[in-house]
Order: sequence, then structure tokens, then C-alpha cells
Amino acid sequence: MKLHEALNIDLDDINREIENLVLRDRDVPRQSPLAQSILELARSGGKRLRPLMVIVGGRFGRRPENKRTLQLAAAAEFIHVASLIHDDIIDGAELRRGEPAVHTKTGVLSAVHIGNYMSARVIELLSKYSADKDRYVHDLSSVATAQLALGEYQQMEHAFDYDMSIDDYLEKSRNKTAVLMATCLRVGALSTESSEQVADALYTFGEVLGMSFQIQDDLLDFTQSADVLGKPAGSDLRHGQVTLPVLFALQNPALAPAIRKIGPHSGDEEIARVLKLITSSDALARAEAVSQDYLNQASEIIHRLSAHPAHADLQTLLRFFAGRDR
Ligand code: FPP
Ligand code: MG
Repeated sequence: MKLHEALNIDLDDINREIENLVLRDRDVPRQSPLAQSILELARSGGKRLRPLMVIVGGRFGRRPENKRTLQLAAAAEFIHVASLIHDDIIDGAELRRGEPAVHTKTGVLSAVHIGNYMSARVIELLSKYSADKDRYVHDLSSVATAQLALGEYQQMEHAFDYDMSIDDYLEKSRNKTAVLMATCLRVGALSTESSEQVADALYTFGEVLGMSFQIQDDLLDFTQSADVLGKPAGSDLRHGQVTLPVLFALQNPALAPAIRKIGPHSGDEEIARVLKLITSSDALARAEAVSQDYLNQASEIIHRLSAHPAHADLQTLLRFFAGRDR
């Protein structure tokens, strides 16, 4: 069963709201290449993981889910998609989920502008949504404007930095991935007037799921074939991404010198050799254990929220993250 079905959420409602973000902008003609590219993106599917998290959050409030919950869900996906457009340019990735990335189709310049427009448009709307009583909406704006960009910057700063600390890695992952997921659950809950205490617990739940998600994503670079990944295996290593498995492998004196030799000009053979070294060490199992620890923390939070009927939906999310394919 698909995640949205297990959560009993109609994806059509979310998709319609995402399309509205551009269709309701009177400054952008419907037939313009900008609007058309965004509509194409909106219609190209995807699990809509972040909007689903907003809606699940909305099940923890005193009021029923409402229009605002749905608008925030759409905004969250817009922020995410905008960041992926830029991410694929930065990573030089031609494909996203096996399909041509936006910049592959439109050229880099147009893609940069499309990403900029999407992220600016969402801030424009979020500031309209935020009356005095709805200050929480700004949480999502600040993720969109600052946290994601900061995480991506930290990642760039640490490219090929084999002295990066585990704390630096965790902070970068939190900014790049976990804060958006955490904020989705929190703003969803506040949109239906949950207590601050419940919203905070849901924030932490989203944060630990996001951390586990990023570690799993980093592990895929070692465990999955190029076919499944839609990009060559070892691609993070080649681009100097010092992920958690690499950090653990660096603690092994038998592996560290070979890893430290990898640089921007390393060839395929060298990358494949180091990939194999890391894969046959205990580094992957250690990273997996850290990911599992985050999932255990998520499980404890569900237990604390068990008085809420919607805690069953958190269990569904947890199961998805524990065995997910991205
Ligand atoms: C995927 O990382 C990328 C992110 C989670 C965030 C990227 C953020 C930015 C580029 C800055 C923000 C920009 C805007 C317009 C708000 P990945 O490369 O590890 O994952 P992948 O394998 O899915 O590409
Ligand atoms: Mg990428």
C-alpha cells in the first residue's frame, strides 16, 4: 500500500493546491514557460512526503484539518522541489528519479530562475497567511530562506574535508533535511490549534525521522546499484561528500589513507576500490545503527503521544522511514 493510502490522504487535494500556488499568481501567465515548467513538475508525481507530514501534524489539533493545513502542505512541497532544482544543478545531476532533471530540460539559467521564483513565491504566500495569531507560519518561511541554504552551504564547505567532525555532519544533515520535515509536522499541528507541547513533540519526531532519512540516503550511495539510484554508485564519494559511513571508515587506520587520497580528480577505478573497502568494513553497520537509534527515539515520542488517536499515523510514518525507498 502506498504511504498516502495508508494515511488515508487524498493526493489529488494536495496536487491541486500545489498547482494553485502558480496558477493563482496573476503576474505569471498560465501559458508562460515558467508556469508550464512548474505545472509539469507538479504533475510529475512523487510521494509528497512533506505535505503528508503537514497533514498528519494537522490531526493532532483541537480543530479539524482546514484550508490552511492544505496550503501549508503545498508550500512545503514547493520549498522542497525548489531546493531539489538547485541541488541537481549544484551536484551536476542530469537525472532525478530516473527522469531528466529540470536543468537538463530547460538549461541551467532557466532552472535557477524557476527555483528562485518557486522559493520566493512560497515566501510571499506564507507572509500573507501569517496573521498575528498564526505566527507559526513563519517557521516554514525561515526553513525555506535560511536553513536549507545553510545546510547546503555547510555541505559545500566540507567537500573533501576528511577532518570534518561527526557533529558537523549531523548539523549539516539537520539543516539540509531534518528541519523541513520537523517543521512540516509542527506547522500542520498548529494549523489545527494543537497545544505548543504537542507541536514541539511532533517537531522532534520529524527531526529524528529526518536525520534517519539522511543517513539512509547516504548509505544508499554504497548499497544500491546505479540503476536503482538513477546516478552512479559512489557518486557522493566522488563529489567529496564526507557522509557518516565515510566518517566511520576514516576512524579505521587501515582505510583512512586511501579515503584521504580521494580528490576532485580521482578516477573511476580509485573510487570503485575505496567504495569496496568501505563497504566491506563495519562502517555501514555503524551508520545503520545511528539511523536506527534515531528511529528508536521516534518510537519513544509516539509512545508519549499515544493518548492522541492520530498517533497511529506516526506509526505508519515510522514504518515507512524504517523500510523506505526514497
Ligand atoms: C538533496 O540532497 C538536497 C536537499 C535536501 C536540499 C538542497 C538545498 C539547496 C540546494 C538550497 C536551497 C535552495 C532553495 C531554492 C530554497 P542530496 O544531493 O543529498 O540528495 P539527492 O540524492 O536527492 O540529490
Ligand atoms: Mg543531489
